[in-house]
Amino acid sequence: SPAARAGDAAQWPTVVAHRGASSYAPENTLASIDKAAGLGFRWVENDVQRTKDGELVVIHDDSLKRTTDVQKVFPHRAPWKVKDFTAAEIARLDAGSWFGPAYTGTRVPTLTQYMREVEHNQQSLLLEIKNPELYPGIEQQTLKLLGNEGWLDPGHLDDRLIVQSFSADSIQIMHDLKPAIRTAFLGTPPVSALQEYAAYTDLINPSYGSISLGYVSAVHGHTGPHGRPMEVYAWTVDDAPTAWKVAGYGVDGLITNKPDVVRSALNGF
Ligand code: G3P
Ligand code: CA
Repeated sequence: SPAARAGDAAQWPTVVAHRGASSYAPENTLASIDKAAGLGFRWVENDVQRTKDGELVVIHDDSLKRTTDVQKVFPHRAPWKVKDFTAAEIARLDAGSWFGPAYTGTRVPTLTQYMREVEHNQQSLLLEIKNPELYPGIEQQTLKLLGNEGWLDPGHLDDRLIVQSFSADSIQIMHDLKPAIRTAFLGTPPVSALQEYAAYTDLINPSYGSISLGYVSAVHGHTGPHGRPMEVYAWTVDDAPTAWKVAGYGVDGLITNKPDVVRSALNGF
């Protein structure tokens, strides 16, 4: 039942664990979403890209270098781009030991593995299509995978899934392919452009330093594609004073590497 979900108490604003609880476990791994679940957080964020042989995987950078041991395993494959490695090659990499010895053996998850863990944990997902210009057709492919995993039924679409991107084109494609899906644009469009975004974007997700009370009110003044006021989830807020300041702008969500720090700050807000 919905009430049984982790962190489901009706609390404002929504706190989203960025790349999972990524201050406490290696980002964009199953360990990071399990950590978020363990801390009581329902909403997690991730980044989706594509391998050389067409598998969707969860990783932030366009290179494998920072968050895996790829340089050790494949020393002659610089610059180690995700799109130049097969899924089988990526499955051999360690995506946890860079973060800490306790996470040695952690893998880069495929999106399928990731969706199953999110479902297992009864969590909700803010899914980012990362670098879509590198991966033509990734929107359609992502939708197909989400459908296969049972994530395009009304229960998931209404309450458990938002797809976001820095690319307005990508979000627009997503909306056109599946109008029922909720979408978010990453960035801070000028107020004069918000009406245009409102045709296909439910949320505007800005860097917190780029917004104000007035900006958030302006976004709220527009009606999104599903007939509700557009919302704002701001990133990346990791300390109490910033959480107080940005919550004071009236945002609907805070995206954070430290969901526990932000939630306890807000409890005293
Ligand atoms: O969810 C917001 C945030 O993830 C956008 O920036 O670089 O962490 O993907 P980035
Ligand atoms: Ca992201």
